Amino acid sequence: MLRHLFEQNKAWSENILVRDPDFFRKLSHQQSPSYLWIGCSDSRVPANEIVGLLPGELFVHRNVANLVVHTDLNCLSAMQFAVDVLKVRHIIVCGHYGCGGVRAALRDDRLGLVDNWLRHVRDVQQKHEAQLGAIRDESQRWDRLCELNVMEQALNVCQTTIVRDSWQRGQDLAIHGWIYKVQDGLLRDLDICITQPGEITAAYQAAVSRAGGPNVTQSR
Ligand code: CO
Repeated sequence: MLRHLFEQNKAWSENILVRDPDFFRKLSHQQSPSYLWIGCSDSRVPANEIVGLLPGELFVHRNVANLVVHTDLNCLSAMQFAVDVLKVRHIIVCGHYGCGGVRAALRDDRLGLVDNWLRHVRDVQQKHEAQLGAIRDESQRWDRLCELNVMEQALNVCQTTIVRDSWQRGQDLAIHGWIYKVQDGLLRDLDICITQPGEITAAYQAAVSRAGGPNVTQSR
């Protein structure tokens, strides 16, 4: 069953060993990634590939619509392990334009159980109803909700006990909000970078009031 996937795996592993014969042996001792990636499950947004990182370099949590829900033990556990044990220096919330989860929330589609999960995106939409309602074009409104959703989830990361406690201890930890465009394979920085509690409000407010769309600041 699924023979071709095993064959592709073998080829992938051999390809890495050509470049570094010790690669997997070294990795087997420990992982020490500097980044936690919180992204969408969408198959077009593969975390490691997008940022050109190898196994061992990126700790990843993905779910539908890249949500950080305060009671989601799965996401919180990944974050706690990444921050407290692995001591990552950066948490990147990365959304993407064309997110089906965001569109379903925007259209109030009924897809099943997932509607309950996407209710969190609806909450983001309602919070920014005035701004979104002013956008006439449906696809631009969709893009903007994808951006606003990233900003809200980055804010949620900052408000977890995990991140607040780590800042309290003096740990170096920066929270970032990025968005990926499936059509060109490029990341955009939403310019919401928070490194301490005092920066949260100003960074969040500046980001949500900044004009968005696919031309937001190119990643630096
Ligand atoms: Co998505």
